[in-house]
Amino acid sequence: MALESQRLAGDVAVVTGAASGLNRGIALKLARNGATVACADINDAEARKTVELIHAEGAEAFAVHMNVGDSTDVKRAFKEIWDRTGKITILINGAALIKFSPIETCTDEEWDQVVRVDLTGCFYTLREVYPYMRDSGGGRIVQISSSSAKSGSSFGGPHYTASKGGVISLSKYAARRWVKDNIRVTTICPGISNTPLGNHPDAPRRLEDFVKDIPMGRVAEPEDIAGVVLFLVSDESGYVTGITVDINGGREVYGN
Ligand SMILES: NC(=O)c1ccc[n+]([C@@H]2O[C@H](COP(=O)([O-])OP(=O)(O)OC[C@H]3O[C@@H](n4cnc5c(N)ncnc54)[C@H](O)[C@@H]3O)[C@@H](O)[C@H]2O)c1
Repeated sequence: MALESQRLAGDVAVVTGAASGLNRGIALKLARNGATVACADINDAEARKTVELIHAEGAEAFAVHMNVGDSTDVKRAFKEIWDRTGKITILINGAALIKFSPIETCTDEEWDQVVRVDLTGCFYTLREVYPYMRDSGGGRIVQISSSSAKSGSSFGGPHYTASKGGVISLSKYAARRWVKDNIRVTTICPGISNTPLGNHPDAPRRLEDFVKDIPMGRVAEPEDIAGVVLFLVSDESGYVTGITVDINGGREVYGN
């Protein structure tokens, strides 16, 4: 596929969780529109596969090992990206871990594991990216929450749903604090999506069970999510910060 546009030419984007699913789709989209993409994940082999997919399209990317739940590793990885590019202007916080244990049986350990990756991981990456983005003249950050943060869905466990709620608040905080630095921060809430996480064998519901509740009659594909992210990191959304965007096939308007 030829590049779609050069609207992100000169941008350096860090995508966490880029080895799979929605984040792989987002990494491809940003690269197809001119950004150089740092594909950050704990799964190095699959992150390299994302890079290969991007290179096959004639676009720019490289893989970086980053465990978002480990502050030392996050610090090292951002320095590695900065040393290589001298610029970081986009961050997509998409890495996530899901466990399906319901609140009644969720262990302390499961709670801590999920919150560490899904919420604390966003804090670590925001804290580390800030000086680099400020010194790059500003940037755009998109954090990936979930429709479950708003609906209270018990698809994921309480740790997942509460972490995703925290992500929305963290985005609003950062949006207010860094508007002076020309950094815009937004959040997306995807509905159920066709990815390894959405299709997880331990999930309490199968993907196809959700379709009857979705007015558009299908679950989300990575491309549905990536297009909205492209808008949120583009100049076309230059007067937008702090907002949360639902991407769910119209679930909010069901029955209208
Ligand atoms: N799939 C859905 O139905 C759905 C719905 C709403 C929101 N989301 C959110 O979208 C994002 C992407 O989800 P997905 O469905 O593509 O999931 P996925 O499981 O396909 O991908 C998640 C990626 O995160 C990586 N990851 C996990 N722990 C990590 C860590 N500690 N450090 C770095 N990387 C780590 C994994 O290796 C994987 O590559 C997540 O934030 C998820 O919560 C997904």
